Amino acid sequence: MMKRRHGIAVATALAAILALAAATTAPAPSSVQAASEQSTPSVENGKQLYDRYCAACHYPATTAKKIGPGLKAIYSRGKFEDGTPVNDPTLRRWIEKGGKNMPGFEKSLTPQQIADVIAYLKTL
Ligand code: HEC
Repeated sequence: MMKRRHGIAVATALAAILALAAATTAPAPSSVQAASEQSTPSVENGKQLYDRYCAACHYPATTAKKIGPGLKAIYSRGKFEDGTPVNDPTLRRWIEKGGKNMPGFEKSLTPQQIADVIAYLKTL
């Protein structure tokens, strides 16, 4: 099947993300830094995190496929591609664990940052 091609695409995307992360570590806006205490999820912070960690693979303004499916209206659509309901816990789990071709963000994003990304996803 298309496994191999997909793997290369994902590896390329990951390399791009790592390069981007390396290039942007120094002047990262302080609002992106992990908050140690949980606070109200911030859509604004979630958008910055999305641009940094998700946009390489997911268009925010369409459902067209980039490397992963476009995430426009992911929340109001109500279901993931596999039929699972979309809600805060299932989205959080998805972002933490990743998928077949999506990396998990458990180690790179704090629970607060994931809550921020989810708040942003709700606006798409
Ligand atoms: C390296 C590419 C890549 C990155 C980075 C990535 N994803 Fe994904 N994502 C995918 C792929 C590919 C899929 C399709 C399922 C699979 O094969 O894993 C997917 C699926 C999803 C889905 C399920 C969509 C559906 O309708 O089933 C959600 C939600 C999602 N990603 C959110 C995110 C968020 C939020 C981030 C950033 C924190 C992110 N992804 C970062 C590649 C990526």
